Amino acid sequence: MSEQNDHKRAAAEKALELVRDGMLIGLGSGSTANYFTEGLGQLVKEGMKVRGVPTSRATANLAAANGIPIVTELIGQIDLTVDGADEVDQALNLVKGRGGALFREKLVAAASKRFIVVIDESKVVKKLGVGVLPVEVSGFLWRTTAHRLASVATSLTVRGGEEAPYITDNGNLILDLTLAEGIDNAPALAAELKAMVGVVEHGLFIGMTDTCIVAGPDGPLVVGRQSGAAASL
Ligand code: A5P
Repeated sequence: MSEQNDHKRAAAEKALELVRDGMLIGLGSGSTANYFTEGLGQLVKEGMKVRGVPTSRATANLAAANGIPIVTELIGQIDLTVDGADEVDQALNLVKGRGGALFREKLVAAASKRFIVVIDESKVVKKLGVGVLPVEVSGFLWRTTAHRLASVATSLTVRGGEEAPYITDNGNLILDLTLAEGIDNAPALAAELKAMVGVVEHGLFIGMTDTCIVAGPDGPLVVGRQSGAAASL
């Protein structure tokens, strides 16, 4: 296993310490979140009673394979959601969606009492927008939406290409935006994207993270949004 994967696993395992019997748990998507789901499956095998709300079909399949009961209709709130991220800044704002699951990931995070982000240290950035910013758009008249999005981006591409585009779990397209100078004001851009006709959801998660667990060679470090500093679980 690569060192980066070791770090992803270490962050996910630290998050497992937050799990308590009877919890309803949001299950993120991507390789780091998968380590959490697999670990949760182990806890279920050992007798813990929890249920999971998956953020993608892939995660639903993984949860089922690991014996975790699945909930897809929600009354009330999710106790705890654990998910990965593509980029995390000092304010614990995120870019997500390079795995294509951003819409459900945001729905699940927004329905959670606590949103825990698990990453390896390569995801920490000074300014968001180092890589692409994924935006989920309706396939209907998508070129008109792309034209609107072009006003805020240096360039954009249809994920998968126009011939055989990637289709999300919700039947939509993903447009990957490049912002050559990065994102100076992420909350303002998030609001602008949200207001654009044709945009279903975007990959900026602003003010949603309660705790980030970032793992590197020195082990997992727990950072709380309120304190902005390392805190213990
Ligand atoms: C999925 O749509 C993304 O938001 C993932 O959470 C993100 O891409 C992180 O993935 P890894 O844990 O595989 O790096």
